[in-house]
Amino acid sequence: MTDLAKLAERAAELRHILETANYEYYVLDAPRMSDAEFDRLLRELKEIERAHPELQSPDSPTLRVGAEPSTQFRKVPHLATMLSLDNAFNDQELRAWENRNARLLEEVRSAGYLCELKIDGAAVSLLYENGLLVRAATRGNGVLGEEITPNIRTIREIPLRLKGQHVPARLEIRGEIYMPFSGFREMNEKRAAAGEPTFANPRNAAAGSLRMLDPRVTASRPLRFFGYQIQLAPEAARSINIDTQEAALELIQEWGAPVNPLRARAASLEAVLEFAHRVEHTRGDLDYAIDGIVVKVARIGLWEELGTIGEREPRWAIAYKFAPDLATTVLKAIEINVGRTGSLNPYAVLEPVEIGGAIVKMATLHNFEDIARKDLRAGDTVLVKRAGEVIPQVVSPLTEHRTGQEQPFCPPTHCPACGTPVDQPADEVMVYCPNTACPARIYWSLVHFVSQGALDIRGLGERTIAQLLDRGMVRDVADLYSLGKGDLLTLEGFADVSAQNLLNSIEASRQRPLTNVLVALGIRHVGAHAAQVLARHYRSMQKLMNAAEAELAAIHGIGDTTAAAVATFMQEPRNRHVIERLAEAGVNMEEQVDEPLDAAFAGLSFVITGTLPTMSRKEAIEFVESRGGRVASSVSKSTDFVVVGDDPGSKFDKARQLGVRILDEAGLRGLPNEL
Ligand code: IVH
Repeated sequence: MTDLAKLAERAAELRHILETANYEYYVLDAPRMSDAEFDRLLRELKEIERAHPELQSPDSPTLRVGAEPSTQFRKVPHLATMLSLDNAFNDQELRAWENRNARLLEEVRSAGYLCELKIDGAAVSLLYENGLLVRAATRGNGVLGEEITPNIRTIREIPLRLKGQHVPARLEIRGEIYMPFSGFREMNEKRAAAGEPTFANPRNAAAGSLRMLDPRVTASRPLRFFGYQIQLAPEAARSINIDTQEAALELIQEWGAPVNPLRARAASLEAVLEFAHRVEHTRGDLDYAIDGIVVKVARIGLWEELGTIGEREPRWAIAYKFAPDLATTVLKAIEINVGRTGSLNPYAVLEPVEIGGAIVKMATLHNFEDIARKDLRAGDTVLVKRAGEVIPQVVSPLTEHRTGQEQPFCPPTHCPACGTPVDQPADEVMVYCPNTACPARIYWSLVHFVSQGALDIRGLGERTIAQLLDRGMVRDVADLYSLGKGDLLTLEGFADVSAQNLLNSIEASRQRPLTNVLVALGIRHVGAHAAQVLARHYRSMQKLMNAAEAELAAIHGIGDTTAAAVATFMQEPRNRHVIERLAEAGVNMEEQVDEPLDAAFAGLSFVITGTLPTMSRKEAIEFVESRGGRVASSVSKSTDFVVVGDDPGSKFDKARQLGVRILDEAGLRGLPNEL
């Protein structure tokens, strides 16, 4: 073999390896090659192609880094018109669509539908000839698009050559180019930091990035692709037979291009509506923008019969549009709320704006680092997102609206509520007010103390709490128990009946179990679950207060962080004092646990490690606990038994070292009879 032939062979091999790596990374989301290895092989291929331009091939991954800039986009015809979609804005309009279709063709009612997400990006058509990507174009006017092939080649999940044996000679894959929110945010942050204008939303960013005359710029943008349609060339129309839209999507995927996995077959229009509503509520969890779902008649055979309206919109598909979840408004101010743990929580005060049917006046800003990274300034025009159940968020400032009057944000060095210098733990992004007597912290502690799941004091709302604090009638949670009717009657909005009702609620709260008291105290990392574990384990506040950190950490279900937080809380004299005063006020400090029927394991401590032959871990724990035993997570001198299954961890070794008695599953089952 000549040297050139050897190089040609190596180049082909490198192309294959690199494209497989791209496919694994982007389409399968299962990378197997390191970035460094990828870069090394790509460099090797570039070297070969540079030294021997005759070895350059049209499907070479080296093309993905971006070709030389051009001066204008060529207009090119699509294989067939790129249609657009009619919209339905509510359930009635979608039902009306089915009814219209059924009048033309009764079968549509029983044919079923395929529901896809309507990605809010830019439509493109990718022309493949003999499997090779030869041309890519924007939608343009539907008939002619703008050729953007060099830009499309930079998107690594778009195959430069289709995989598989039976690829028709000439076809277009159509789909949507989009920019994920994460990439959009990061890109805008970098642009803001470099003083460049930010993009208004992910769709503009995607469309703008596609239409760059310099493909190297496109290459630097985090663009992604979902294919949703195969358009065969007229002469190739009979080369493959695709029965359903679902089969078309599967074929696109087999050829190596990504399709959105979030889709649903629906047997009826009611099932379509169910899918639509579910997606609308959960779309906040997606990392990309959608503006609705697209509903397509499942059987492609019916498409031709249904036809199009004026060569513009097909009858066989429709967009069910959601209310927008993105809006632009003015960030009037950045304010800070000091929470019950002392965390300084920044939030945005917005010029009220309607998003998805609700008026949004405030949005979360997470933390100070986030504000700095996004370069948010009071007075900025900003992009705000509110989706599903998610709290509204400020995505990005729109810097081209800046006038120079905007106020950069300066994180406070002192608590805005009490003036104490703030604290930033080394491993956290949050900043805290360390003063446990901070009025803001006390206010939120009270709000938390009376909430459901805590001591559940009905009739004690935030406004009443504020009044009680303002008038000095209450300084901490324990003071709630010395309030009399006379006190309550001096408050706004209280009369004889409402005051008595509140007193009754306060009285009832004295009887809540220890679990609720622990939740109410608002110890960091102690939510409903940890509180219940602790309450059941110790059964009394007194015992819990005196537990050492290591002992807490050994309890099954209590992690190191929680153990440390509980120990720290209980060491603080102020907290101990509050607990004592609550106890004096008659608040229950015990947990009633139903005594086990059989107390064979009372007072014994067990550790379970490895996989047991028939019992699940949960069953083994129940077996021990229902007999009055305790299950701990680590072995110590006070452990009585270690139950060992297959693949035991280091706990087994530790047990042997300490001479703790070791049981297998059968030994555990037999133990009650032995004791
Ligand atoms: S099908 C004839 N499916 O929505 C059918 N379109 O006007 C053509 N879009 O700009 C479109 N996600 O780019 C279809 N899963 C999806 C889509 C989708 C987004 C876009 C499409 C077009 C617009 C419809």
